[in-house]
Order: sequence, then C-alpha cells, then structure tokens
Amino acid sequence: MNTPTWAQLTNLAVAVLFILSLKALSSPKSARLGTLIGAVGALIATVLLFFTGIELDNLIIIVVMIVIGSAIGLVSARRVKMTQMPQLVALFNGVGGGAAGLVAVVEFLHADGSGSFLFWLFTVVTVIIGSVAFSGSIVTYLKLQEIMTTRPVVIPAGKWVTMLVAAGTVGVAVWAIATPEFWLILLLLALSLAFGVLFVLPVGGADVPIVISLLNACTGLAVAASGYVLNNVLLLIAGTLVGASGTVLTSMMAKAMGRPLTATLFGAFSGTTAGGTTEITDRPVRSGSPSDIAIMLGYAGKVILVPGYGLAVAQAQSTLRELADLLAARGIDVDYAIHPVAGRMPGHMNVLLAEASVPYEQLKEMDEINPEFSSTDVVLVVGANDVVNPAARTDKSAPIYGMPILDVDTAGQVVFLKRSMRPGFAGIENELLFDPKTTMLFGDAKESLTKVVSSLKAL
Ligand code: TAP
Repeated sequence: MNTPTWAQLTNLAVAVLFILSLKALSSPKSARLGTLIGAVGALIATVLLFFTGIELDNLIIIVVMIVIGSAIGLVSARRVKMTQMPQLVALFNGVGGGAAGLVAVVEFLHADGSGSFLFWLFTVVTVIIGSVAFSGSIVTYLKLQEIMTTRPVVIPAGKWVTMLVAAGTVGVAVWAIATPEFWLILLLLALSLAFGVLFVLPVGGADVPIVISLLNACTGLAVAASGYVLNNVLLLIAGTLVGASGTVLTSMMAKAMGRPLTATLFGAFSGTTAGGTTEITDRPVRSGSPSDIAIMLGYAGKVILVPGYGLAVAQAQSTLRELADLLAARGIDVDYAIHPVAGRMPGHMNVLLAEASVPYEQLKEMDEINPEFSSTDVVLVVGANDVVNPAARTDKSAPIYGMPILDVDTAGQVVFLKRSMRPGFAGIENELLFDPKTTMLFGDAKESLTKVVSSLKAL
C-alpha cells in the first residue's frame, strides 16, 4: 500500500531532525541538544509506523517488546559509568546490526521465492553486514568489559581461516541470490556470524574502540540495505547517515592514533598491533609529596593540565577544576591540553571536563597547545600516559609509533599523577616517567588532587 502524503512529509521532517542532530553532535556545546533531537526523531518515526495503515501482525508482542527494550535501554544508559561507555555503544550497536539481519531473514521468508534481483541482493547484504556487526560487536563488548582478554587473539592459521570464511560467505551469498533458498540464508547467517568473530578477535588493546566505530558504520549500512528490503525510506536515510558518519569517525580515530586502518584490523597477523605489554621495570624515579607538588604549581607562572583516562577512572574532574581555579586566582596562567584520543572514546576529556563546568575556552586542542609547552613551567599530567609518551616519536617498534603526542617533555617540569608505574592502554613503558625533570605523585588521581588542593590553600 502507498504511504499517505502526511506520513511521507513526517518522514521527511524526521530525516531533517536526524541531520540536525548530527550537526549539533559535532560540538560539545550543542551535543546534548543533538542527542535529544535524534531521540525525538527516532520516537516520531517509531510512533508513525502505527498510524500509517500498515498491517501489523502480532501488535501486542510488538508493543510489549518496545516497552521491554526501552526499559532495558533506559536503565543501562542511566547506570553506565562514563568509562564503560564504549562497551555500551558496542552492545547497542551489535543489537542494531543483529535486528537488521533478522529482519532480512524474515523478509526472505515472506517473499517466498518471488522477488527482484535487487531485492535478493539487498536481503543478502543485510544478512551479511548485520550479522558481522552483531557478532563482532559482542566480541568487542567482551574485550572491553574484560570478560575475555583485551589482547589480540590469533588462532592457528587465523589469517587463512578468516580468508576462507570470507570467501565462503561471498560464495554462499552469490548462490543465495541466484537460488533463493532458505537453507542458504541460514548458512550465510552462520558464516557471517563466524566472520564477525574472526574479524575482531585479532584486534586488541587500544585498537578496539576503532573497530567499534567501524562496526557501527557497518550497522548503518545494514540498516540502509534493510530500508530497501522493507521499502522504508527513513531506514534508508538513517542507515546511510550512520554509515557515513561512522566511516568518517573511524578514519579520524585511526588518523589521530597515527596508524593506517589496515594496521589496526590486520596488525596482529603481522605482529604490529597496539596493545603489547612491557615488563614493569624497577628503575628509580623521583617522587614527591602533595605539598611538594603544591609548591611547584603555586609558584609557577604558567601551568598546563593534561587529563587522560585515569582522570575518568578516578572521577577527579571537579577536583581538577578546583585546582585550576585556585591556580588562576593566584594569577597563574592555566590551560587544559586535550589530546584527540585521550581517554577511551572520541571527545572523552571534553565531556568529562564539561561535566565539571570547565569553560570551553580553557580547553586547548593538541595543535594549538603544543607550541606552548616549551614556555611552560609545570605540566601536570593527570591519569594520562600514552598521549604524552615520546616513544611515539622515536621508537619504531612501539605500537603507538607515529601517533602525534602532546609535547609535554619540552616543558620545564613535569608531574605525573598515577597509581603505579604500570603502562597505559598501549602497554608500553614511558621514558618520560624516568626523566630527571619528572616528579611522580603516586595514588588515585582524585585523592592526590584533593591533597594538592588543600596544600595549595595552605600556601
Ligand atoms: P592511558 O595511556 O591508557 O593511561 C592512563 C593512565 O591512567 C594509566 O597509566 C594509569 O596508570 C592511570 N590511571 C588509571 N586509573 C587511575 C586512577 N584512578 N588515578 C590515577 N591514575 C590512574 O591513557 P591516555 O593517555 O588517556 O591514552 C588513551 C589511550 O587509549 C591511547 O593509547 C589511545 O590510543 C587509546 N584509545 C583512545 C581512543 C579514544 S577515541 N579516546 C580510542 C582508541 C584508543 P596506573 O594504573 O599506574 O594508575
């Protein structure tokens, strides 16, 4: 049946909402509004389906499932810790891909052998990409949640097994398009699920969030293809937007980490993946007390604060802001240096510091702040490691080699707040920790900052 004109116009309005949402998401200032606009669009699109005259079988089951799904989504999104956000995204994304794949399987059954070439093509594509996104996302979830090892997993002859499964998937896909039989679709489903697992297993450590972003783009494509299968323009538009923005995000993340995407995906097969582990050496380092650090900071002319993943773990953003305010009140020039991949997700530090109401003007991007380090008296590195590790410049064997870093090592003095000498996500030692100009303050970032703040107040 034809969609009524009013419903088509509403669809158009929803598509515009999705585009506006993406636009607003591109700045931390308007990101909250962007999320809200996108959610309103999705709500209108869902409700619309019930009023356009489409015959819906199993209405009660559909409504009950929507209620259950919304409740699970709401509770998990409210409860999730900021540091666990990437795995939540992975899980939600996997569910989206899986749903698109299942819809395609059902539509295949409905078509009962009759359909155009394009219909079979898009159905098969949806099954493949949706299933890969589903099983791949589940593996990334298990890795980030540390339910399984976060290190790359290479099975014996992994490269060849993966290539064989990939070739089998393509072969069965062609066969299913030429002879649309249900058992072929089931075989395709199984092969695609296996490929998703094999594809993600060799990716480890710091590379996992990039793969999440890539799988997110895949889900977008699966949803777009299912839009063709279901004759639903809105799914087509929304899926294309997710596919395109996910692809751009993936390439931006890979660029910020200074690694080609191929090294991220297939690095483990050639031994060039990020996420190695280095033995912790017990070379001597200089450590100081909170009052030593307060004196260094309190009598400096210019201080740069470098937040990293540990700040998020310690939830020390408000205490860091308190310290920055105290320093500024003493007439000290204070800035925050934001590395594009500090933390575990794009914009992690911006979101964290926005929570503590740090003014945006004080957040300086890497390119802007780097020339300033050499004229800075003290750099306070709070729970960051890889993003300030000079090995990225000098050590060709380091997994982060080539990643642009914050030039903290050019400053007068450097203070690290961290709990131990353990490495960061990339699993490699940081020479800067052993530099004579570096002072370590060991402990949880929030506790250490609280002590430094009280010592500073007493100066
Ligand atoms: P990391 O290199 O992971 O270092 C974080 C440091 O925080 C660790 O050395 C840890 O040392 C310390 N820490 C943890 N909990 C702490 C606590 N409660 N209090 C004090 N310190 C604590 O972080 P980074 O410098 O932000 O770099 C991010 C890494 O993630 C990079 O390798 C990047 O490539 C990767 N990555 C990021 C993204 C995005 S988009 N952000 C995406 C993919 C990969 P202790 O254990 O000794 O305390």
